[in-house]
Amino acid sequence: MNIVIVKDYEEMSARAAEHVAEFIRGRSPVTIGLPTGNTPTGMYRRLVEEHRAGKLDFSGVTTFNLDEYRGLAPDHPASFARYIKTNFLDHINIPPGRAHWPSGTGDEAEACREYEAALAAAGGLDLVILGIGVNGHIAFNEPGTSFASRTHVVPLTEETRRIAADGKNFARPEDVPEAGITMGVATIMSAKRVLLLASGPSKARALAAAVAGPVTEDVPASVLQRHDDVTIIADEAAAAGLPA
Ligand code: GLP
Repeated sequence: MNIVIVKDYEEMSARAAEHVAEFIRGRSPVTIGLPTGNTPTGMYRRLVEEHRAGKLDFSGVTTFNLDEYRGLAPDHPASFARYIKTNFLDHINIPPGRAHWPSGTGDEAEACREYEAALAAAGGLDLVILGIGVNGHIAFNEPGTSFASRTHVVPLTEETRRIAADGKNFARPEDVPEAGITMGVATIMSAKRVLLLASGPSKARALAAAVAGPVTEDVPASVLQRHDDVTIIADEAAAAGLPA
């Protein structure tokens, strides 16, 4: 694992954007898995700025969101589809039809099959970008998820729902959907390269367990120890629990 420790959120975002921009510049076509949440917003803002400055072309890029809330349509204000459009896709030159997200509505099994088929048709993920949950989850793969999982529907833990009820998208934990649809752990591990971002003290315990603890399904992110091309960009607060 290549672990880069930077000062703060801004620096993490800048380094992440550089990493992704460099990856895209070197390849076309290229397929990328995209996270949502607070962690990547600074990175998306910088990638949009690079594009607006005429320095980054997304015409060869295909994207796949990592996950979605079960029951939310893409135009729901709290959906991850809406997040990725507002924060990123609406501001870059990604060709129509090349941005994908798992369907939060309709037949579950069909939605999972379709997503895996679309990923395969796109040639698989070249790069997957990840955040990390305070319990070590990646995408919506909660502790206990099989390392062999592909795109599937998962019940969300109480902790994940409580944290998602931050007053922005959901007022109360009970307003947060009870399940998510997510790329599985094996789907994520099939990416050729992984970039994981972590910021803030609330992520320190999970990051330490992921990087230096045993590889176990109880800490989904620990599976990354088995991937041979992982870069982690963490700020000092998130990296506080890492061995020196
Ligand atoms: C959610 C998302 C994850 C994300 C995590 C952390 O559960 N499904 O993909 O990594 O939250 O979010 P944040 O970056 O807001 O801390």
